[in-house]
Amino acid sequence: ESGKLWGGRFVGAVDPIMEKFNSSIAYDRHLWEVDVQGSKAYSRGLEKAGLLTKAEMDQILHGLDKVAEEWAQGTFKLNPNDEDIHTANERRLKELIGETAGKLHTGRSRNDQVVTDLRLWMRQNCSKLSALLWELIRTMVDRAEAERDVLFPGYTHLQRAQPIRWSHWILSHAVALTRDSERLLEVQKRVNVLPLGSGAIAGNPLGVDRELLRAELNFGAITLNSMDATSERDFVAEFLFWASLCMTHLSRMAEDLILYGTKEFSFVQLSDAYSTGSSLMPQKKNPDSLELIRSKAGRVFGRCSGLLMTLKGLPSTYNKDLQEDKEAVFEVSDTMSAVLQVATGVISTLQIHRDNMARALSPDMLATDLAYYLVRKGMPFRQAHEASGKAVFMAETKGVALNQLSLKDLQAISPLFLGDVSRVWDYGHSVEQYAALGGTARSSVDWQIGQVRALLRAQ
Ligand code: ARG
Repeated sequence: ESGKLWGGRFVGAVDPIMEKFNSSIAYDRHLWEVDVQGSKAYSRGLEKAGLLTKAEMDQILHGLDKVAEEWAQGTFKLNPNDEDIHTANERRLKELIGETAGKLHTGRSRNDQVVTDLRLWMRQNCSKLSALLWELIRTMVDRAEAERDVLFPGYTHLQRAQPIRWSHWILSHAVALTRDSERLLEVQKRVNVLPLGSGAIAGNPLGVDRELLRAELNFGAITLNSMDATSERDFVAEFLFWASLCMTHLSRMAEDLILYGTKEFSFVQLSDAYSTGSSLMPQKKNPDSLELIRSKAGRVFGRCSGLLMTLKGLPSTYNKDLQEDKEAVFEVSDTMSAVLQVATGVISTLQIHRDNMARALSPDMLATDLAYYLVRKGMPFRQAHEASGKAVFMAETKGVALNQLSLKDLQAISPLFLGDVSRVWDYGHSVEQYAALGGTARSSVDWQIGQVRALLRAQ
């Protein structure tokens, strides 16, 4: 006997290098709990279909509980023939309860078993990641609320653009993350579909009630086609894409903070808890946490495109290539969990330098508002833009700041400029103009905070 579940038709031994190459137990052991869960449900299905007596089912259920207990206590002993978690658990079940164990796999294939396990695992994991993501969003919104009167320069093309509220910047990243939360929920919905009862390819010939299996495992629906069910990994690809997009958002936020943390900007200072030093330059405090968040994005994208390449061109139904899906899921899940927690820590401990932020504002950033001043006096915007541009040019030529131009200077550009133009040179006044929903005025920032808090409450 080869000691393998599939040993019957084999005479020769498997090459030891092949043995190792083929084995997935090193990582799919993470599935031990859901594998037991799936097998327990399946044995109930077998009993209902008359393929197990009640006594046999109880024996199997009890044995599976024992298997789970061993895993939980760290006493489960793998043997060299355990090529994956499914074979390991079944082998152990047989050792524990004897030949009845051989009935558990009736009508089941590892093809429907593994994808059921993976869906169960991912369903649970999506909930964990969702909680971590919301924790980060909550931290960001709390900060945005506490610091909504802090103003600083907004940039486009990394060039000074317009004054904005610091909270507006925080919320710009938080709202992107709310879309990621929404997306994760949708992914989770498509993860939550039961493939068990599909067999290897053709379905189940023994009358197993899949609706019962669905209810036992609390899935939202059952898969429609056994060939598709055992080989599609859309839900894995979607999860990896979800992670990729979420990492894109986190990596962009990290990049902003790295920049804002330089001496040249000095808007923010990273807590020591999320920084590291240099082994050579004693003065250095490096934003490694943020750099690693930025870099992990690359790793996650790699897993996403890697899986798509694995799937592309596979012939119909199960092929061993699909075994490669799990490492991607586990690695990306671990990465996302760590990244979200680190990001939460970074944001909650970040120090901001309000004075430097205020000092970085400059009157040229109010040139747009100067144009709007003229618009409010009735000038068409294109002309107002031109007039304000002339003022910028005049100030540059004279070597003064935009707000140092005299009223006479401005009136030489347009007679619509009056004494009340001095109001334009106030940054607080500037941001308050942007009161349309979504803008940087206090009322709109409060509205944004309210909207995100409503989503938080709905969790
Ligand atoms: N370890 C395998 C996987 O992860 C289980 C399914 C194997 N099925 C098979 N027919 N060889 O995909």
